[in-house]
Amino acid sequence: MLSVVLPTYNEKENLPELLEKLRGILQGLPHEVIVVDDNSPDGTWKVAQEIAAQQENVRVIRRVGRRGLSSAVIEGFLAAKGDVLAVADADGQHDLSLLTKLYDAVKGAKVGIAVGSRYTEGGSVGQWDERRHMMSRIATSLAMRLCRVKVTDPMSGFFAVDRVAFEEILPRLNPMGFKILLDLLVHAPAGLTVKEVPFTFGVRTHGESKLSRRVQVEFLEYLYDAAFGRIIPLTLVEYCVVGVLGVVVNLAAYFAIEKVMGESSATFLPALPVLAGIEAAIVFNFFLNNAWTFAYAKLCGLRAVTGFMKYNIICAFGALANFAVTTFLYGNGMSVIVSLAVGAFLGMIWNYTIGRLFTWNV
Ligand code: GDD
Ligand code: MN
Repeated sequence: MLSVVLPTYNEKENLPELLEKLRGILQGLPHEVIVVDDNSPDGTWKVAQEIAAQQENVRVIRRVGRRGLSSAVIEGFLAAKGDVLAVADADGQHDLSLLTKLYDAVKGAKVGIAVGSRYTEGGSVGQWDERRHMMSRIATSLAMRLCRVKVTDPMSGFFAVDRVAFEEILPRLNPMGFKILLDLLVHAPAGLTVKEVPFTFGVRTHGESKLSRRVQVEFLEYLYDAAFGRIIPLTLVEYCVVGVLGVVVNLAAYFAIEKVMGESSATFLPALPVLAGIEAAIVFNFFLNNAWTFAYAKLCGLRAVTGFMKYNIICAFGALANFAVTTFLYGNGMSVIVSLAVGAFLGMIWNYTIGRLFTWNV
């Protein structure tokens, strides 16, 4: 049996004709269709539910408070009954008549994953503009190189997979973004066979693409992780970027307060501008790391308040370590710059490691 998952977000106008088409194409083949809709504002889920009420082999999963193509596909596959699991765009861009071919490849020829491919011989991206075409080519070649996959179209959203193979790979999947196929290929067991079936990418019938800037950034982060993540984790790179910006904030706050306090700072509270500068950097670092570096473990509300207090304590120890290392190196004949840099770097690694564990709990 073939299970076809259709992820949808605002596809109200496309879905009915698509389901009708699918019915024609798949008649004669035991199949089911699972629409996974993320509570689309346009009410796609409602349209889908109305059709499902009429057709026994159509089901709808309406997810509330969730977004994402990959996670929608995974959830659809998990709810599926078939021994071959397929996915296609719900906007008419994928040539649904190839579904039987993809099914035959998996079921008949025992291929692990059969991919509807735009870049294999005979396939094409159709009427894309040069910008999207170039972006897709760059993304594809990066994915092939960095993730070491041999498929020419690892970003395709049109493929069929053997149920047993899917369930084996499942625990290793990362449900972020659009790159479900790439992720399956990356985590596939070595012997899994893959076949590409060429097709021409069509134009969207109605509505617009959901491949947002955010999805693209997540994709680049994923590539980084796949290629270099084991050597230097992405969060550490981001943490260091925040740290460098924090140094700028520290200096700016220091000079601003020094200027406002004028003469009095030198006489009464010489340490105040220094401490205020450090605290300004800690506040800045906490919020930026919370919103960006550790966005996936973001602290909100009361947990942000307690997290911030913990982070202050951690950074205080980081500052002490920084100070100790710097004075030690300087006392042993290192130059000022090297002593400061090594001290700051070690302090940052401390703050990252301990902050990650105890502030963001990851
Ligand atoms: N449930 C759910 N949740 N569905 C979603 C979401 C989401 O957050 N985002 C997108 N979809 C659905 C869309 O409604 C559509 O049916 C399908 O997933 C693909 O999204 P499109 O917005 O049509 O993507 P595209 O056509 O720009 O991108 C195509 O090419 C990419 C690579 O170039 C797709 O085939 C992608 O799968 C492919 O990665
Ligand atoms: Mn599409």
